Amino acid sequence: MVFKPTRGDLPARFGPGIPNVPPIGPSTLDADVYRDPERFEQERLRVLNRSWQIICRSSEIPGPGDHHVWEGHGESIVVTRRKDGGLAGFHNVCQHRGTRIVVENGVGARRFTCRWHNWAYDVEGRVIGVPDRPDFDRATLNGLCSPAVELDEWGGWVWAVLAGPGVAGPLLDWIGPELAGDLGAFRMEDMKLVEKVEWEVDVNWKVVIDAFSEFYHAQALHQIPAADVKDARQATMDVFGRNGMMVVPLMGVLEELRRTLDHTSLAICNYNLFPSAVFNCHNVHTQLFRSVPLGVNRTRFEAWELQYDTDDEDYQDLAEMLWEGIKAVVQQDVDEWVNVAAVARSSAYRQNIFNERECLITHFHRVCDDMLAGGDGLGLEPERTMARPPRS
Ligand code: FES
Ligand SMILES: [Fe+2]
Repeated sequence: MVFKPTRGDLPARFGPGIPNVPPIGPSTLDADVYRDPERFEQERLRVLNRSWQIICRSSEIPGPGDHHVWEGHGESIVVTRRKDGGLAGFHNVCQHRGTRIVVENGVGARRFTCRWHNWAYDVEGRVIGVPDRPDFDRATLNGLCSPAVELDEWGGWVWAVLAGPGVAGPLLDWIGPELAGDLGAFRMEDMKLVEKVEWEVDVNWKVVIDAFSEFYHAQALHQIPAADVKDARQATMDVFGRNGMMVVPLMGVLEELRRTLDHTSLAICNYNLFPSAVFNCHNVHTQLFRSVPLGVNRTRFEAWELQYDTDDEDYQDLAEMLWEGIKAVVQQDVDEWVNVAAVARSSAYRQNIFNERECLITHFHRVCDDMLAGGDGLGLEPERTMARPPRS
């Protein structure tokens, strides 16, 4: 039996009393937000390094000593499975003369040795071996380690905070009860990674997040038929903490959705997990769209395909067919970013204009701005009680 996600006891996200959009309204955004190198540097330090971000699937490092090297926004970390099943991780930077310690993913490591002069590190990043140690200043080497990252697991994913323990609070608080419940209903921890596709694109990382935060472009760019676009205009969006949610009715099921209110099984559910992940959940399969900044105008865009783990060939064929369709659609987004890149530094590109259905984008940028200003990105949701008339 293939698992079928359903809403169960989760709150309704669609139907009577649920507005289409939160009262965020239209907005504009200065184009420099996407192209200012100084801003990008601040985003690295104040937003990206201080947020929980996805590193890899838990299943990619199943056994003791299995390790994963992750790189993005100028950082390199190594995450290792401990003997007790937990995780250890540190910045992958040799404290001797600043080179990368671990170059590749691997299995069964007990320690890591830098190949330049053979300094050895344990899985926590502590320096445990220095050839010719007496030749060094003893105090400098005393207790030396490469800085730790904070790690946790949820949904079958390994997550990390690069700025270290205690900076971003607990992972479950970061995800928040609304997304933990809704996204949790798809049981990603029971799914298997079928494929991961990567593109390197010449746009700012936020262009990628913006692109997966609205349905407005589906008719023009993806040529979704008008009847389906009409149904999709019934989509609902909301923001919770730093994160966003968009529920788009599947084709041809609007009446059934109105009757059952089971958005989990009858809609495409988009979960924007600040800052760099968008989950695209469907009752057959789920994608993670992940934006990894490489520079102010260079981004690694990843699309991860998760499917339920079953021998059911009918399911596998259906999931594969749907995934092929998604890849073709995503390629259209990637192709459009070439045109975005072409004018990114144009004097005529001054601002973005967002409509009220692009409100998840507006919210995302407000959270970025708040964190850049030293805030925690919380408390920016419009007053919910205003938005929702009492249910009859
Ligand atoms: S740089 Fe790593 S041991 Fe010298
Ligand atoms: Fe798209």
